[in-house]
Amino acid sequence: MEVKVISGDVTKVKVDAAIVNLFEGVEKPGGATGAVDKALDGIISKLIAEGEIKGKLNEVTLLHTMGRIEPERVAVVGLGKREKFTYDSIRSVMSAACRTLRKTGVKNMATIIHGAGAGGLDAEKAVQALVEGSIIGLYTFRKHITKDPEYGEIQELLIVERDKKRVTLLEQSAKRGWVMAEATNFARDMVNEPANYMTPSDVAETARRVASDWGLEFSVLEAKEMEELGMGALLGVAQGSKQPPKFIIIRYKGGDPEAKPLGFVGKGITFDSGGISIKPSENMHEMKGDMAGGAAVIAAMRAIAELKPWINVTGLVPATENLPGGAALKPGDVLRAMNGKTIEVANTDAEGRLILADALCYAKSLELSPLVDIATLTGSCIVALGYVCSGVLGNDQEMVNRVIKAGEEGGEKIWQLPLYEEYKELNKSEVADIKNSGGRYAGAISAAQFLAEFSEDTPWAHLDIAGPSFLRKEQGYLIKGATGVAVRTLTNLALALAEKPITS
Ligand code: BES
Ligand code: MN
Ligand code: ZN
Repeated sequence: MEVKVISGDVTKVKVDAAIVNLFEGVEKPGGATGAVDKALDGIISKLIAEGEIKGKLNEVTLLHTMGRIEPERVAVVGLGKREKFTYDSIRSVMSAACRTLRKTGVKNMATIIHGAGAGGLDAEKAVQALVEGSIIGLYTFRKHITKDPEYGEIQELLIVERDKKRVTLLEQSAKRGWVMAEATNFARDMVNEPANYMTPSDVAETARRVASDWGLEFSVLEAKEMEELGMGALLGVAQGSKQPPKFIIIRYKGGDPEAKPLGFVGKGITFDSGGISIKPSENMHEMKGDMAGGAAVIAAMRAIAELKPWINVTGLVPATENLPGGAALKPGDVLRAMNGKTIEVANTDAEGRLILADALCYAKSLELSPLVDIATLTGSCIVALGYVCSGVLGNDQEMVNRVIKAGEEGGEKIWQLPLYEEYKELNKSEVADIKNSGGRYAGAISAAQFLAEFSEDTPWAHLDIAGPSFLRKEQGYLIKGATGVAVRTLTNLALALAEKPITS
């Protein structure tokens, strides 16, 4: 969808539909909504008086204008209670409005900037959020459906600002929103893709294309190089599959050439059957989404390349399948990671931390700092936090705070879990330095404690996105399936660290 910012009056734009708004409890609409109401002989006020329009969040009322104003239709969207209104409400109402308008065959639309006037929000951030909500809200994944869709796509969104002088500034906000949203949807496409279309080689190929399209440096380590580097944990997981593993490296060099790059490490398990510790079959198909962390890293690198912050960023994605082939890892096997630490494989289904162990070692060998890893790591994190928010843990509180803040700015909720020393005991092994499963209780934390053994003293935060990465049912402006979670968090984090590096 194309997005433009124009100056003018929303009643005078020739479009299939114009979007105006109303806070809950307002009886007499003002501003642009008031102007539309007046031009339509007070129909909006009448519908409010009769209780048909309440202004509840995400309520969409569609009116035909019968030629009285330029837009053919008007969608009045409810903004909910004024005191509860946030940038995420903007994403949400735009998504609701766009979906309704798409169903009516609308091809182009105009909107006012919600929340910037009476709502008291910042107009630039509001514009960004409204573009994000529209593009993310309209996402579908139809690649493998041969039947034609019921309705076409909306081609154009015009954001109408009254003040001509602010158009250039708001265009930048719209661009930023567009970049964030398109990158989010790009990650969703990768994650929704079935595992037979998104093998480790396909992930590498996708990353290669991103790099060449957006001017990033790109390389891949093959199994042989992994062996030379001593990546025994990653190779251990890969040995049960016929698909060769790939270790993807993408570099953005936008900052001081002397500065250590920020490091992103994304889990790239393109299918997690559990291996010999095989998973129950019921929801196993969802494990095509076990590369959501890797997809988030690749997509964020793309967004960063487009936004060009003054910082160096390196993205790493260890990619492999976790399958129970004849050569597969067996429970009880011992592996040796790149830093020399030995790992007892207590459970072959705890494969994510194995591949991340080697990836973190490699990140340290490249002197990336700070580090953030992103992984659909544990079912335990879903038990703790559900599908609403990701878990974050780390060895550096400022990094954890920065990650949480970066998430908030993108409408991605993140909650910190504790990384207390006492939890280390859960990973104690009798036959090796550490084991890869700490048992049922506090599983998200013991997994993070395991990773902490490999990030060592580098400032590091770990994002467990197992819940929010893949939804079983629609949740707000996200449809069922892949959500592209963490793309906006990582991108915002890079932008923020470019402005203000961490001091620790
Ligand atoms: N990929 C899974 C975690 C997961 C579960 C992600 C559900 C998304 C939805 C991970 O590899 C895994 O299997 N973790 C195990 C670890 C356990 C064996 C220690 C888990 O959390 O059950
Ligand atoms: Mn697993
Ligand atoms: Zn997994």
